[in-house]
Amino acid sequence: MSLTTHIFATPQDTARAVVELILAGVKEKTKLSQPFYLAVSGGSTPKLLFELLANEYADSIAWHFVRFFWVDERCVPPTHSESNFGMTYESLLEKIDIPETSIFRMQGENDPENEVKRYEDLLVGELPLHDNFPQFDLILLGMGDDGHTASIFPNDMSLLHSSRAVAVGVHPVSGQKRITLTGKTICTAKRVTFLVTGESKSEVLRQIIKQEPEAQIYPAAHVHSINGEVDFYLDQKAGTLL
Ligand code: 6PG
Repeated sequence: MSLTTHIFATPQDTARAVVELILAGVKEKTKLSQPFYLAVSGGSTPKLLFELLANEYADSIAWHFVRFFWVDERCVPPTHSESNFGMTYESLLEKIDIPETSIFRMQGENDPENEVKRYEDLLVGELPLHDNFPQFDLILLGMGDDGHTASIFPNDMSLLHSSRAVAVGVHPVSGQKRITLTGKTICTAKRVTFLVTGESKSEVLRQIIKQEPEAQIYPAAHVHSINGEVDFYLDQKAGTLL
């Protein structure tokens, strides 16, 4: 696996750098008259990115070429305060000119197993496939303090190797069920980018970036793109031990 770290002074600068990635990716696919398949995560850091996109780039991106998917979703209705879709909708989607038909929400209100099957079938129908797994152009990931990513937690590493494209994850503390892309779907993407900020992540990041043996317990240490690459976009605080 080839890790590349990009460290910026502030969370805002870090988010802006990821926006530039999205801009470049959309431009490339627009030239080919092809959709840009993007999967986004929840969390406070991705929220920063969405707000920046809405406030400063709403008119700079050909949104009708973008197909919006989710990396994971809490099993709650979209109006619930913990909904990843709800957060993305309020911070970005309702502020940009994107067709509803380009937004593919994980339906957290559904029975989890039924939603896994529905979303899996949807991905297979909407995206190009590589070795029978749906292939995204870009997957944006966050990382929890415990090294989880998507809704793949350290106590359920089997989701990294599941033969399914989508699965049910469970938060180890709250027991909350989540719909999540599996490790194989994430690792099929053309590009996998982490956006991580804050000092609370610095020690786990140090272990992962230095590829220390103890980092193997963290799901975030096991994901990469189809060509074995992964980018970590970090603010100074998250990268303080690097
Ligand atoms: C979720 C996210 C999760 C998140 C990380 C980082 O549904 O919780 O998908 O993987 O991205 O926990 O969240 P923060 O950026 O808020 O620390």
